[in-house]
Amino acid sequence: MQSRLLAAASLFAATFSATAALAQAPATPPPLFAVCQACHESTATAGPSVGPNLFGVGGRKAGAAPDYDYSDAMKASATIWSADTLTAFITDPAKTVPGNKMDYPGNDAATSKALADYLMTLKP
Ligand code: HEC
Repeated sequence: MQSRLLAAASLFAATFSATAALAQAPATPPPLFAVCQACHESTATAGPSVGPNLFGVGGRKAGAAPDYDYSDAMKASATIWSADTLTAFITDPAKTVPGNKMDYPGNDAATSKALADYLMTLKP
């Protein structure tokens, strides 16, 4: 009887710690993020690449990473990056921030939303 109780207790402990570990694991990027990574870094310590580092982009003003040489159009944009503004930008970059220099055609809104939700998790 006592050993059964112990087994139940240790099963509970194992389940609990597995759940805690899952909560801390970084979000998995959508497959298309590999395309973004051709031009963007996305980790805390990385610098700019062809495009600005996307780590911490959620909540940041457009064109505001300090170490990246943005287009005037991106610097002049008053956009604050949120799940919604990122979804719009990734869906149609040229229309959302006219004159910006991101050479990417965009994609369907559902794919953009998944990418935007992932970008919002890239923060300290
Ligand atoms: C061919 C290179 C290239 C690809 C591919 C690319 N980007 Fe960019 N991206 C850029 C450049 C260059 C800029 C800076 C634009 C400017 O200054 O006008 C930029 C800017 C951005 C910004 C604005 C960041 C800020 O600090 O204001 C976001 C968000 C972004 N890209 C997301 C993405 C996502 C998500 C993808 C994948 C779907 C992607 N990009 C694919 C080159 C690229």
